[in-house]
Amino acid sequence: MSIPTPHIEAKKDEIAPLVLMPGDPLRAKMIADTFLDDVIQFNTVRNMFGYTGSYKGKRVSVMGSGMGMPSIGIYSFELFAFYGVEKIVRIGSCGAYTKDLKLYDVLLAERAYSESSYAKTQSGSYDSIYTYPSIELNRAIEENAKQLAIPITKGTIHSSDVFYRENFEDYQTIFADHQAIAVEMEAFALFHNAAMTGKQAACLLTVSDSLVTKEATTSEERQTAFTKMMEIALSLA
Ligand code: HPA
Repeated sequence: MSIPTPHIEAKKDEIAPLVLMPGDPLRAKMIADTFLDDVIQFNTVRNMFGYTGSYKGKRVSVMGSGMGMPSIGIYSFELFAFYGVEKIVRIGSCGAYTKDLKLYDVLLAERAYSESSYAKTQSGSYDSIYTYPSIELNRAIEENAKQLAIPITKGTIHSSDVFYRENFEDYQTIFADHQAIAVEMEAFALFHNAAMTGKQAACLLTVSDSLVTKEATTSEERQTAFTKMMEIALSLA
């Protein structure tokens, strides 16, 4: 396929080799407005806004992924396969599966577990219930976090297709069987696409709610907490 793609209208070279991907396109706009200089907008298709600018003199792009694996599956594939993107770092939120994780803790995914058929349908890799981030990218993220003195927790995360479950307590089984310490809805597909295209992906998450304590953050409180995560990710540029 050539560019533009069905879902991204950017011209050649408008997207940087490093893309940060929040779920919410308005968060992508906020990051571009707040942290980047010399910004161009490269996508408005379906309001899935994408921007390229510079951070401390280095080129970086930021684009929304939408919610769920079908959505991030489409955007990350088109970025990797058709736009020459080398690295995608998802910056999202998650629900904690363990009381050891507190609201606003920052988490780095070392492995994604999923019941999703994404990997099987995409490439026939039906034995995979786990997908993995780039070791190199994770190492760089850990290094940046250390430099910025931001503590991060590493572990397996659960990429779920379902937000509203009939039995929320089922999380205990997933925690016990797969050591998944938190739930989100995109990383498994992102990591799979990176593996299939020979590119790199990672996933940083901020705890926005807890399935254990049932606590949740307000959208305003989330803003500051997410800033920490964004600083770690932007330092990759
Ligand atoms: N479930 C799925 N995804 C999430 C959650 C959750 O509880 N919190 C933040 N992202």
